Amino acid sequence: MLSHADNELLCRIGPGTAMGDVFRRFWSPVCLAEQVSRADGDPLRVGVLGERLVAFRDTEGRLGLLEEACPHRGVSLALGRNEAGGLRCLYHGWKFAADGTILETPNCVDAGFRQRVRARSYPVREAGGLIWAYLGPAEKMPAFPHWPFFDIPVDNMRVNRIDAPVNYMQQLEGGADSSHVGVLHSNFARPGWMSGGFNANTDPDNPAALVTGDLAPTLLLEDTEFGFHYAAIRQLEGEDGDGRRNVRVVPIIMPSTRIIPSPAVQFVIFEVPIDDTNTATFGVSYRLDGAPVDRDKLNEMSGRFNPALFSEHTHGYLGTWQTRFGQDRTRMQEDWSGIQGVVMEDMAMAMSQGAIADRSKEHLVPADQAVVRARRQLLESARRVAAGGDPIGVNVDVSRIRAIDSTVPGNVRWQDLVTHGKAAA
Ligand code: FES
Ligand SMILES: [Fe+2]
Repeated sequence: MLSHADNELLCRIGPGTAMGDVFRRFWSPVCLAEQVSRADGDPLRVGVLGERLVAFRDTEGRLGLLEEACPHRGVSLALGRNEAGGLRCLYHGWKFAADGTILETPNCVDAGFRQRVRARSYPVREAGGLIWAYLGPAEKMPAFPHWPFFDIPVDNMRVNRIDAPVNYMQQLEGGADSSHVGVLHSNFARPGWMSGGFNANTDPDNPAALVTGDLAPTLLLEDTEFGFHYAAIRQLEGEDGDGRRNVRVVPIIMPSTRIIPSPAVQFVIFEVPIDDTNTATFGVSYRLDGAPVDRDKLNEMSGRFNPALFSEHTHGYLGTWQTRFGQDRTRMQEDWSGIQGVVMEDMAMAMSQGAIADRSKEHLVPADQAVVRARRQLLESARRVAAGGDPIGVNVDVSRIRAIDSTVPGNVRWQDLVTHGKAAA
């Protein structure tokens, strides 16, 4: 449980907030590359950390990320004309270069004026099928991180987003919480749950598949330089046993990223606050062997095929209490949740907690220790940044961070499977 004050500290991310200052110290995905793929294409409204921005690609292919409100009188530049080397406000025709420089002001002939004013702009990069931005102080800008999937051809990955009207922390906690996987996602984790037996789901692409029916694995947490990782260790039983264990290691990378493994695929998930009560979840799925992922199958598993719950066009999650988040209670004899798809199950849980969950009323148990650790690290970062220091995990090499889902003989130490940074001192 958290005090009301700490809950506010954890969840509020707008300009001038302590947690907002933490997030502003990191490079963060702000939209999909495909959303601004064309030179002179449609400008895109981008909400991030409580700020309203517009992203566009100019005639030369340069990316711009500007404050959405025109510096003249605040009209949205997302309605503007994107042509001939800049974005032009529809209202009085001021024209902006990708870096925010004002190129033309048709209603003001004073050329000196254009030198004195500019549109607020942010550093922006494209990599791994995503557009990344840095919204923090210039003198604190960290090196642009090299995520492992930057080395995989974009065409071989699945890169997507889903925006939901819920605080980022509920999404992050859902991702850090392993004990819900064998319950909420029973259809995937424990096919045959309805008969009381356990049939292992052997699909190597499925991140919710468990190798045993063990719902209370040994959970070990270790702080690392990027945040922490936790290992869930499950003993195999019966003839498969002979001491073999399944090891799942999930890295939680500050401030709000995690990597979920299946035996073959890594699912890197970034929770990016749009504002206090909206979150963009960016997902990158890639195979460890670099071969193309099966996008159709992964979409099917996630439940993104249902137009009542997800808009391919806006990337918005559409479930509400009006539609009971897609829950069909007539199917619950053979379907655990009555909700189709792993992501849609997660979304329903997060949405049902309210826009910002009240953590002063909860009753935590040892299985929640990863959730607790994530909160504690974020709150610690907020205190450090407020005191003029650096947040946990900033400027850390992320290129070797991997999640692990591996079944190994009893004499293999799980720590030896970990290729990324050692435990923090
Ligand atoms: S409001 Fe944009 S040019 Fe006037
Ligand atoms: Fe989940």
